[in-house]
Amino acid sequence: MGVYNIAVIKGDGIGPDVVNEEIRVLNKIGEKFGHKFEYKEVLLGGAAIDACGTPIPKETVETCKASDSVLLGAVGGPKWDDLPGELRPERGLLGIRSELGLYANLRPAIIHKALASASPIKPEIIGDSLDILVVRELTGGIYFGEHGYRSGKYGEEAYDIENYSEFEIKRIAKVAFDSAMKRGKKITSVDKSNVLESSKLWRRTVIEMAKDYPEVELNHMYVDNAAMQLVRNPKQFDVILTSNIFGDILSDEASQITGSIGMLPSASLADGAFGLYEPIHGSAPDIAGMDMANPIATILSGAMMLRYSFGLTDEAKAIEDAVERVLDKNIRTGDIADADSVRVGTKAMGEAILAEI
Ligand code: IPM
Ligand code: MG
Repeated sequence: MGVYNIAVIKGDGIGPDVVNEEIRVLNKIGEKFGHKFEYKEVLLGGAAIDACGTPIPKETVETCKASDSVLLGAVGGPKWDDLPGELRPERGLLGIRSELGLYANLRPAIIHKALASASPIKPEIIGDSLDILVVRELTGGIYFGEHGYRSGKYGEEAYDIENYSEFEIKRIAKVAFDSAMKRGKKITSVDKSNVLESSKLWRRTVIEMAKDYPEVELNHMYVDNAAMQLVRNPKQFDVILTSNIFGDILSDEASQITGSIGMLPSASLADGAFGLYEPIHGSAPDIAGMDMANPIATILSGAMMLRYSFGLTDEAKAIEDAVERVLDKNIRTGDIADADSVRVGTKAMGEAILAEI
């Protein structure tokens, strides 16, 4: 029997709604497979600003560091929009990624067969399946480069610097190549090396690493072309490897192509087995606490935790299969429902998934 210590950041908006269902599902897995999951709740983002006056309290960082992994719901909301940059909820999210060394962000964009019609892309292009993995560098680049103000040619100006070291590029490229080896063995590395020096280093470094993975087919795309190709012919992609800012943008685009952003989980990984797991969607404050949010992305994030941090493959699969069966029964939250669906709320969706485990 394994005992796993998990830090839980329910967060803002619908965060608590969806994380509660995730915890119920994990507990059922624990019962069934004989594991014990111990949870410690901590604050981040808006909830932390309200309670402690900072989006990233020290205690949160310490508890997360002392845990085996971290689960997160969502952070942010209009309530905190007018705060200065360093006090915004988003600063909490960027801060925790950096503090915990979570440099590798895996964002799968998958179309479940039962939901293929939800994609905004024409059926003759998308078919009934899509399986892209965006590997986004998460603790470097322009989001963490030097920011500031200075006097420039036209008076005062603001700047944000994009910088990448060979070390940072290598370690994220390795994650992408290792992931590709377990999937379709194809990587598209996305950069802007026709303009940016940091992208030139990115491309050179990725090409160098490809020598260690002769089985992987590597190609390169400028980010503007990649944004276009994603809607023109999304099936050409297997693994997309890219920087922090390009990955932020392209992963939103890829998720929208699946038509159901409420379905997509993500993992943010450090070296070793430590990771933070969160749905791709945001905090949707307009439906918070109303039993309307789709908990599937968060529940599938729990499955990713079992697989990546704890090596519990069968247990992860049990959750993923349960979700698949519920979708096959046409049980749906509002965001993915059609006219014939059995429409349910957040809790009933959690219940339906539990019943299939
Ligand atoms: C994401 C979000 C965050 C990011 C924001 C909230 C800071 O957009 O996880 O993609 O830019 O990384
Ligand atoms: Mg984003």
